[in-house]
Amino acid sequence: MRAAAFSEREEVTQVRNALGAIQSLVVLGGSSDIGAAIAARLVPGGCRSVVLAGRHPEKMEPVAERLREAGAEVAITAWDAADIPGHADAVKAAWDALPGGGDVDAVLLAAGVNAPQERLSDDPTAAAELVTANYTGPVSTLLHVAHRLREQGHGSIVVLSSVAGERVRQSNFVYGSSKAGLDGFAQGLGDSLAGTGVDVMVVRPGFVHSAMTEGKEPAALATTPDAVAEAVADGLAAGRHTVWVPTTFRFLMAAFRHLPRPVWRRLSARM
Ligand SMILES: NC(=O)c1ccc[n+]([C@@H]2O[C@H](COP(=O)([O-])OP(=O)(O)OC[C@H]3O[C@@H](n4cnc5c(N)ncnc54)[C@H](OP(=O)(O)O)[C@@H]3O)[C@@H](O)[C@H]2O)c1
Repeated sequence: MRAAAFSEREEVTQVRNALGAIQSLVVLGGSSDIGAAIAARLVPGGCRSVVLAGRHPEKMEPVAERLREAGAEVAITAWDAADIPGHADAVKAAWDALPGGGDVDAVLLAAGVNAPQERLSDDPTAAAELVTANYTGPVSTLLHVAHRLREQGHGSIVVLSSVAGERVRQSNFVYGSSKAGLDGFAQGLGDSLAGTGVDVMVVRPGFVHSAMTEGKEPAALATTPDAVAEAVADGLAAGRHTVWVPTTFRFLMAAFRHLPRPVWRRLSARM
């Protein structure tokens, strides 16, 4: 029991402020609904410097305005998950743009795309582009981020994975497999950084009401960006390495993960 409890937590090693709160944040995917909610949740807790990095400044500006009204200084920089040769410069630009300068306490990977499986099955190029945005691009970007945080000697990387990656469903297998890859990468990255002062927290939400799911029938245990933000803030404060939203998924997915393939094939066809 003790080992299991320990496995969900790590030492909180960040410098942060005297109370251990995140003071500076870079959001990769600055217009994401979940990313915006997380940033908005962290600002009243002491996060005063935020960089929103993404493809479309006009979509990030309303998020920046909301954070400024809450008391943060906010900069907007360019980052495209698909532009792999540009990632070194994009990460440097995010650090350089941090209002007030100094260290980055946390980097949140909030970018991601989803699309109907039938469309992706009919369009292999679109499927590969989705994998680039959800997995290949984040791998490259987060390796650059990890180098910067190691140089600082502290920092948290928060990765928005998904329950979809815990056991891949036939109805969503390109997206699910991209999240499975990202989740495995994030766990390995976190393990490789143990003892450096840098940690990685993997966040696995279920269905979240956001731009990504607009118009879709909500799945069981559907939740909101604000609920994910609350769980992320709690997880950061507690030094967790894994966060499920809602927490019920931790137990549900443990059961789903061990179902025999034929049973899962029939069950997941209806999910
Ligand atoms: N919503 C859910 O049910 C759910 C559940 C589990 C996990 N997640 C994950 O949570 C994360 C946030 O999702 P969300 O619900 O907040 O969706 P969202 O509001 O649609 O946000 C997705 C973000 O990804 C950005 N993005 C897409 N492709 C990009 C690229 N090539 N380069 C840079 N940015 C790119 C989008 O920016 P643009 O403005 O440039 O398009 C947007 O800011 C995603 O990783 C998603 O997979 C979501």
